[in-house]
Amino acid sequence: CERQDGKGFRQRLLVVANRLPVSAIRKGEDSWSLDISAGGLVSALLGVKEFEARWIGWAGVNVPDEIGQKALTKALAEKRCIPVFLDEEIVHQYYNGYCNNILWPLFHYIGLPQEDRLATTRSFQSQFAAYEKANQMFADVVNKHYEEGDVVWCHDYHLMFLPKCLKKYNSKMKVGWFLHTPFPSSEIHRTLPSRSELLHSVLAADLVGFHTYDYARHFVSACTRILGLEGTPYGVEYQGKLTRVAAFPIGIDSERFIRALDLPPVQDHINELKERFKGRKVMLGVDRLDMIKGIPQKILAFEKFLEENAYWRDKVVLLQIAVPTRTDVPEYQKLTSQVHEIVGRINGRFGSLTTVPIHHLDRSLDFHALCALYAVTDIALVTSLRDGMNLVSYEFVACQEKKKGVLILSEFAGAAQSLGAGAILVNPWNITEVAAAIARALNMPSAEREKRHKHNFLHVKSHTAQEWAGTFVSELNDTVIEAKLRTRQ
Ligand code: G6P
Repeated sequence: CERQDGKGFRQRLLVVANRLPVSAIRKGEDSWSLDISAGGLVSALLGVKEFEARWIGWAGVNVPDEIGQKALTKALAEKRCIPVFLDEEIVHQYYNGYCNNILWPLFHYIGLPQEDRLATTRSFQSQFAAYEKANQMFADVVNKHYEEGDVVWCHDYHLMFLPKCLKKYNSKMKVGWFLHTPFPSSEIHRTLPSRSELLHSVLAADLVGFHTYDYARHFVSACTRILGLEGTPYGVEYQGKLTRVAAFPIGIDSERFIRALDLPPVQDHINELKERFKGRKVMLGVDRLDMIKGIPQKILAFEKFLEENAYWRDKVVLLQIAVPTRTDVPEYQKLTSQVHEIVGRINGRFGSLTTVPIHHLDRSLDFHALCALYAVTDIALVTSLRDGMNLVSYEFVACQEKKKGVLILSEFAGAAQSLGAGAILVNPWNITEVAAAIARALNMPSAEREKRHKHNFLHVKSHTAQEWAGTFVSELNDTVIEAKLRTRQ
């Protein structure tokens, strides 16, 4: 099952995710410029040396014409990427609709807003049909490029239907599926009209992975309660085989962040920021502008803190980086206006002619600026209402070797299970509690800060993205043998 790739023998890994790790901009009828993202998954897979990765996914742009599609396919091939072309209607129903308006809020325990509930219930069937269709389109592309001996790794809630489609094409194909979000309690999952179809499809995979043991347990309970299947400590018995289910907590490429801190452009940013916020403690939030991130609640908690702690009013600043996301989904549009309204009100209330307590940015920062910001921060506020893992908390810790700042972390983020001992854990819905955590963090003695930081830093350094990907892929590669042994026990 190995083949020559010019550098030696390596097995191929087909990584299938909704989005390719590139942003594609059309420059002409048959020319494209591509910007490859250095995000988490990409660096994770660069660390898996035994495999040669190929990416399959949507390029995030609508390309209706054949000339454009051919040119983009060619440009992407150089980056080892293979596109799945989705038309506007499918994107609307599958990505904006079923993925981001139904599965995303449900998996994060955030109900639909009252006014949307009925409309969503009505459009459910057509959105689910588009979801199935889109997953089938991904399966067609995978199948076209699959060669015997390849390992296929499907990612996230967008592609729950994919394992079944792939196994239909080829039951011997080795297929893994990993969920980057929480998997909710079976009581939540069972409200989904397509609850059984999704479970059946995921169970067709050989290995099913989650960030935490709790999410894996919820998945197994959903399979036992909804499908009446047998759960074992290793997974779920399904159609005469064992589908292995396990927790694989993700990490970051910590060395990349640590090394960046010594680079001259990062040092320049650090000096500028220190000068800019001299005499004030810096509090930082970095989130996609998503309802699961709890940004309005965080800002209201900060307001409560300012109300109750007059002494600190001109001595702290909250920098909130809110990266726009899924801007075609109405819920996200409403959230943007809501956050702007709250920030404006609080700055009006506590600001002066020369300073404001909250700097809110609706955009992302480049890697160097982000590292510098992490490094000068005294307190990071990661207060997601729910989050699969949350790697901002990891990135902050990686950049704090000098400062040893405090991490305030939501107990509903997967990261609370790994960084909980070093962070101050909070219930993000309780504004009073978060305000008290801010006061505690600001007054924390340095010995305690150091102890907490050390705990988290050791974890972030030793549980990397590369190790996560390597463990998942090698376990997937071994699943067939494993499953046979386990069922014999
Ligand atoms: C979450 C999901 C990812 C997704 C990312 C960005 O982290 O788990 O699968 O790619 O959000 O969202 P977007 O909708 O822009 O791809």
